[in-house]
Amino acid sequence: MDRIRIVGGNALNGIIPISGAKNAALPLMIASLLTSDTLTLENVPHLADVEGLIRILGNHGVDIAVNGRREHQDGSYSRTIHFTCRTVADTTAPYELVSKMRASFWVIGPLLAREGQARVSLPGGCAIGTRPVDLFIEGLAALGAEMEIDGGYINAKAPKGGLIGARYTFPKVSVGATHVMLMAASLARGTTVIGNAAREPEVVDLANCLIAMGAKISGAGTSTITIEGVPSLSGARHRVLPDRIETGTYAMAVAMTGGDVTLSGTDITLLDTAIEAIRRAGAEVSAVDGGIRVIGHGDQIRPVDIVTEPFPGFPTDLQAQFMGLMTRANGVSHVTETIFENRFMHVQELARLGAKITLSGQTARIEGVSRLRGAPVMATDLRASVSLVIAGLAAEGETMVSRVYHLDRGFERLEEKLTRCGAIVERISD
Ligand code: EPZ
Repeated sequence: MDRIRIVGGNALNGIIPISGAKNAALPLMIASLLTSDTLTLENVPHLADVEGLIRILGNHGVDIAVNGRREHQDGSYSRTIHFTCRTVADTTAPYELVSKMRASFWVIGPLLAREGQARVSLPGGCAIGTRPVDLFIEGLAALGAEMEIDGGYINAKAPKGGLIGARYTFPKVSVGATHVMLMAASLARGTTVIGNAAREPEVVDLANCLIAMGAKISGAGTSTITIEGVPSLSGARHRVLPDRIETGTYAMAVAMTGGDVTLSGTDITLLDTAIEAIRRAGAEVSAVDGGIRVIGHGDQIRPVDIVTEPFPGFPTDLQAQFMGLMTRANGVSHVTETIFENRFMHVQELARLGAKITLSGQTARIEGVSRLRGAPVMATDLRASVSLVIAGLAAEGETMVSRVYHLDRGFERLEEKLTRCGAIVERISD
């Protein structure tokens, strides 16, 4: 199993190209099941989760053609993938596939809308929390589907003539359930109004792509989304939006190590709340042509309290990284996680580097230390793993991160991007 070796202490200086967003690419790829025409996606990141979903979509009958990567001057790649699902080959998503990646459960929306039925394995729990699917079941039932759980699977059946538009308000904000309702309602008969919808930029990206495919959607990015169903969707060409979580992660890394880095190909407005927190911690962050410039001052980090919330609040997917930054603040800070009940697995590992963190329910109290020391640590989930990498960059000596397959799910060419900015980071394959 690969490990990542980091020798900390170097400031980061240079350009880091930001990739297309994993969490936008996944639902966009799934949207290809809605049409028999070709959906072309540009700026698709090369990540384990994307490759996994390519295999899963292949099972459902999607033909996939990947255009070679093109290297740009700043070291970025851009990958274009064509997805064509002439006919749906299989409306079942089996346990072996869905259990590997929760987002593959989302095929339930387009399969049900296009084929009138879907049999999709329950995704089960995962490391960061129980992650139930009640909101998907309620939402699709509101569109007239019969939803039945049987043997670990959800059997979903649309009424004769297809799903029927309806008014449905989520009792809790869910990104995935909003994606699924958008896709399902696009092909329903009549108008659907989704209340308490997720407002994440990835939801807006999916809505924009569906609109390019012929869907009639308004209000994406607000809490109320209206979808007027259409009988069929066509192909389209769409560019995946930049990864705001990757952007925030590298911005926090620079805030922690010090240095001057331009994050290219990204957009500051995608992560206002996180940028504000990074600024309050003492880094200078500004919008520049085609990206964001971050100037960090290393050891003058100020303590900042944050609470994770659905967009536009502070993203749960940046919580671990921000905690990493706070481990070296000049004072005490508090990080409260409100989205997932078990997203503090990095706490123990950060402690191995010398961090002083105590947990009380959903809040971590972080007492900043003047220095961290490198140590062997273990990656436990995607975002937790990268918090260990950025802490390792600021620690003295060597940090060895094991189980890096978690990182490969969501960070494209991480070692290369950091090395180009002066970090000492290498992958060791055993
Ligand atoms: C998406 O997950 C992201 N994944 C997650 O990123 C992200 O952490 C999360 O949104 C929140 O921003 C992808 O986009 C692929 P949710 P999702 O449904 O859609 C509860 C990463 O690291 N809930 O918005 O699965 C749920 O348990 C990943 O890239 C129900 O109770 O998250 C959680 O507490 C991790 N019932 C809350 O809602 C349901 O039916 C928000 O989850 C569905 C969700």
